[in-house]
Amino acid sequence: MGNPDRYYVERMTALGESTEVLASEDIRSSMGLKLLKEGARIDRRVLHRLLQHKLLRPIDYSVLVENAVNRDTLIAEGLTLMGDGSEVSLLLNLSRPQSFVRQCFARTVLNIAMQNKLTVAYRQRPELFAHSLRVALVARVIGEQLRLDAEELDVLATAGLFHDIGELHCDPAIFAPSGPMDAEQHRHIRTHPVTGYLIVKEMQNYQPLISRAVFEHHERLDGSGYPKGVHDRELSRPGKILSLVEFAVGLAQKNTLDDLHTALKLSAGKFDRDAVGALTALLRARQHRGAMRSDSREVRNTLGTLNRILSDWPKVGKNGSSASEEAARTFIAANVDILQRSLVRAGLPPDGAPEGLDLFGDDPTVFQEIDSVLREALYQIRQTIRETALRWPEFLPTAAAAPPAGLSAWLTETERRLTAPPAGAGISSAEPS
Ligand SMILES: [Fe+2]
Ligand SMILES: [Fe+2]
Repeated sequence: MGNPDRYYVERMTALGESTEVLASEDIRSSMGLKLLKEGARIDRRVLHRLLQHKLLRPIDYSVLVENAVNRDTLIAEGLTLMGDGSEVSLLLNLSRPQSFVRQCFARTVLNIAMQNKLTVAYRQRPELFAHSLRVALVARVIGEQLRLDAEELDVLATAGLFHDIGELHCDPAIFAPSGPMDAEQHRHIRTHPVTGYLIVKEMQNYQPLISRAVFEHHERLDGSGYPKGVHDRELSRPGKILSLVEFAVGLAQKNTLDDLHTALKLSAGKFDRDAVGALTALLRARQHRGAMRSDSREVRNTLGTLNRILSDWPKVGKNGSSASEEAARTFIAANVDILQRSLVRAGLPPDGAPEGLDLFGDDPTVFQEIDSVLREALYQIRQTIRETALRWPEFLPTAAAAPPAGLSAWLTETERRLTAPPAGAGISSAEPS
């Protein structure tokens, strides 16, 4: 996928096409060669020269961007997001007044390099910038609900704001809306917590808990996250809170708060219990209900799909006895087991037949809730398949391979069932029965 700094230097020079970006010092290569002198304009014309060499210092330290993002920008954009009517704004408005935004960012420290980086995000990835602000705000709310001290609240807000800056160093092609990412792109995007961690760690202004939380924001307590796949006791408290909030905000950006509530019920063991408790209490307090969009036939189809996937899993035989096959089987079995327990807790039989839904009559509210549980269950299976594909790619059938059997067959068939239209983070209907 290439040199990550290359993509960032490209972004900075592209920004220089629409905004004044000037070298604040002589820009030198790591060998000491002067590439640009202080005051030079940074735009597309100097891109080639900058990419020919490894830079002595990251470019953020050597440039000044006109109208760079500062604390006032954070507050103004935060207020806009609180009033935008989105699901996350509903969540925030439930518990906090508008003045909360100012309070959240009042003590946020932005050095010039970080201002530059946030400005690149603000101008070139506005949806990422907005997402980061939302994560910062919600993380602070959860921290306050947990009665953390002022210092830890600042850690949460700052880490929330910075958590995805590593994405600015990823190949922009990944974010172009051109269909699902392939395995290589998935591997590439999974570097962003590490890149973000290294960037923040280098900056003296930020205490180690901030960079550590950035590193941990996609980890899960049960070890199913990334980049390291570590467990509960190895994670920091801000990291655990950020992981939950990042998940919650990401989900609420594409779904309803009802869906989020359901997803939390089905994610036991993945997130910090106290933080989930605080978020769930906020969700319970709301009056908002998502739009009714489930009809009983759709729900029956979805339940049928889930039923087939789960009932096929115990039939998977052992093809060979390689260590990697054993590890992959154990990983999937653990995830299936957790999911089945969650389904029981949510009031559904773990492998219930669609006919069981007759008990509920035609109550649209009940079907809405069941639909939400089922779509989340299928989403979790999709995540398990994706994770398996990344950790043990040898079980992915290739075009040239013989018809898949055993574990590969289950993976292939499940993938097919999950991608039956319409697909997406929330699957609302699936294959015909
Ligand atoms: Fe994120
Ligand atoms: Fe992320």
